[in-house]
Amino acid sequence: MEFITYEQDGFVGIVTINRPKALNALNSQVLEEIEATFDAIDLENTRAVVLTGAGEKSFVAGADIGEMSTLTKAEGEAFGKKGNDVFRKIETFPIPVIAAINGFALGGGCEISMSCDIRICSDNAVFGQPEVGLGITPGFGGTQRLARLVGAGMAKQMIYSARNIKADEAYRIGLVNAVYTQEELLPQAKKLAATIAANAPIAVRNCKKAINDGLEVDMDAAIVIEEKLFGDCFETEDQKAGMGNFLEKDKEKKLKVVPFQNK
Ligand code: CAA
Repeated sequence: MEFITYEQDGFVGIVTINRPKALNALNSQVLEEIEATFDAIDLENTRAVVLTGAGEKSFVAGADIGEMSTLTKAEGEAFGKKGNDVFRKIETFPIPVIAAINGFALGGGCEISMSCDIRICSDNAVFGQPEVGLGITPGFGGTQRLARLVGAGMAKQMIYSARNIKADEAYRIGLVNAVYTQEELLPQAKKLAATIAANAPIAVRNCKKAINDGLEVDMDAAIVIEEKLFGDCFETEDQKAGMGNFLEKDKEKKLKVVPFQNK
């Protein structure tokens, strides 16, 4: 891998996009390496992933403008599909992915963060979909996920105006869940990931699937999805251990981390 580093910290995987010369912009190779990195994550021993950018200035400054500048219509569509396929892989990845946004999250950078389950950022983060200023539309899911996350009105304003917003505004409109200092961001992301990883892993995976799949259908179909995934949990050791601890009324045991099974 030239542009991606992967680190395993207990049950937490940390994926870092590392192309500092271009502020971590996404060219084809970076996209392919992100996909290969996620494909290689050991899902037996990993329960949450943190995605971040190398350096102090940028999370991801967008899709690579140099690479896009000479694309034909067909090539443009194929490039969009390439990004969309990778981001969809992140969105539907079996375990939660937390974006730790440490600076510019523009265009494809904002878009990759929106394919993650949770977004937290540093106080120097800048978000935006500047594509119409470059003569294109957002092409890695921005027209779809931004509207779903912050509402159609705010998404349309950001996308049509190509105006960037700072961390505090991203927090106000619900694009990020929390803002930290630059020093605090990664430790906080790892802490959140570790908190998730301490819970029953099958239950957490089922929650992700229930929320994601349920949002794509009407409420009658959505609650059936939930019922099925809820029922599945009753076949797990985690459910027996977790509820058994509670019913034993033993404070020590209640607080003890149960030896969760992973699949
Ligand atoms: N693609 C390719 N290279 C990029 C890049 C991008 N998206 N963003 C930054 N870079 C490169 C710059 O060309 C520059 O390279 P050189 O040193 O070789 O000249 C290097 O990164 C540093 O950038 P700047 O000198 O511009 O740094 P700055 O601090 O002055 O500005 C910035 C930072 C505001 C983020 C500015 O770089 C910028 O506006 N970048 C482009 C942001 C953008 O428009 N992103 C959306 C791309 S379109 C897209 O993503 C489409 C899609 O939906 C799929």
